Amino acid sequence: MPWVEKWWKQFNDLKSYRMPEEKNRVYIFDTTLRDGEQVPGCQLTTVEKIELARDLEALGVDIIEAGFPISSPGDFQSVVEISKAVTQPVVCALTRANRGDIDAAAEALRFARRGRIHTGIGSSDIHILHKFSSTREQVLERAVDAVKYARRFIDDVEFYAEDAGRADNEFLARMVEAVIEAGATVVNIPDTNGYCLPDQYAAKIQWLFDHVDHIDRAMISVHCHNDLGLATANTIAGLMRGARQVECTINGIGERAGNTSLEEVAMILKTHHLGLHTGIDSRMFFDVSAKVSRMMRMPVQPNKAIVGRNAFAHSSGIHQDGVLKFRENYEIINPEDVGIPESSIILTARSGRHALRHHLERLGYQIQHIDIDEVYGRFLEMADQKKEISDHDLLMLMGDGTEKHYKEGIQVTLLQVVCGDPVLPMATIRLRIKGKEQEASASGTGPVQATINAIHQIIPAQVRIEEYAVQAMRGEKDGLSKVNMQVVHEGNTYYGFGMSSDIVHASVNAYVDALNKII
Ligand code: KIV
Ligand code: ZN
Repeated sequence: MPWVEKWWKQFNDLKSYRMPEEKNRVYIFDTTLRDGEQVPGCQLTTVEKIELARDLEALGVDIIEAGFPISSPGDFQSVVEISKAVTQPVVCALTRANRGDIDAAAEALRFARRGRIHTGIGSSDIHILHKFSSTREQVLERAVDAVKYARRFIDDVEFYAEDAGRADNEFLARMVEAVIEAGATVVNIPDTNGYCLPDQYAAKIQWLFDHVDHIDRAMISVHCHNDLGLATANTIAGLMRGARQVECTINGIGERAGNTSLEEVAMILKTHHLGLHTGIDSRMFFDVSAKVSRMMRMPVQPNKAIVGRNAFAHSSGIHQDGVLKFRENYEIINPEDVGIPESSIILTARSGRHALRHHLERLGYQIQHIDIDEVYGRFLEMADQKKEISDHDLLMLMGDGTEKHYKEGIQVTLLQVVCGDPVLPMATIRLRIKGKEQEASASGTGPVQATINAIHQIIPAQVRIEEYAVQAMRGEKDGLSKVNMQVVHEGNTYYGFGMSSDIVHASVNAYVDALNKII
């Protein structure tokens, strides 16, 4: 019977899934610095690799694959330096199944507190024939020799059966049994080409558990590539059949379509309560993901699960309304669990009044003073022109009617400023507060400061300006200045917006706008 047929038969003859009763700890083997770093354009310097290795240690990964020492002096040095830089994780070095590679790996790992050599060879007939021009028996011999040789240097030896995803299961089982017999402590079953379906990969792992003698002497590891977008699904399928080590990368970077993404696996295990757990601190995901993306110059796709820009952003009106009523309506993960402070409600022409109100309140507006239908009408007009409405746009939208929204609040009825060189800037301001007018004068380092000092003669509130941005407006409204201010009062942040042909006036309007929100 041709091997492909035999292989399919094996899948169909599967026993039902048995969850291991104990040993529910999943070990995270991060290969961002090896499988991830070999992607064109993602190369890192040794210093950058050390920085990321320290982050991975803080994240709680169990094993860091630090490089392929024989491949270049730079990779060799990185393994040496990472071995010195981290103490908790095992530091792993990759080799092919030959003694020269293993010698180099052993030497590069000499400073590692806990080192591992990761050696291996192709296991599929395609690789055996067309990559090694060899036979199954010869490849088996090389695999055993490599493991035995590596064990001379180190107790922790992992063997990878490359392209196991397409390998004949009977032969794969022989290979796994032989390398365990030779001393492998971990056996990696890579779906090197991202070929398998989750059921097939699960069946392969199950087949090994059912057919390999002494399989309990080694840990089975899953290493899946994403060519069909199934890397994470295959990884989880492998874990459900008894594998306990996951090989993965931050952001899923890696050869071609990438590797299994670390953050996806960790959050699946957390969300689904499969009885399995990792030692990962998921609250670091967002920061570590951003750093890997920045250092490797590899943008994270916006819709990437867990760490993509849109992973916790809601843009349709129905979803926004739902998530504002009860977060869990549209979120299965709390954004704080992955290091994102809060979900975002993106304002677009599809947003409803609930989302608009939410943003106005966040910016400090008092909704009870606002005719929300009128503002929503203007909002839709603006949203039709622009794809997304920013805080800045909202402030501008609201700025047009500031006085209208704060009838009972503070209004500027007079502003006089004297300044020049060498004149000390002086300002006189008259404010109407709840219908009553009050006037004050003050000096300052500049005209805006003088005016703010004068305001505080009337309103003695403790307000700190955090941000002050002036923008000259062009086009239709040529000659106008627009001022955005962010102020802090008693620990709360408020935003103010002002517009005028005079820059001091625009600034004062922005400040008074913020004060109105405080009051
Ligand atoms: O994908 C793969 O097979 C690998 C091995 C070198 C472990 O990366
Ligand atoms: Zn790989």
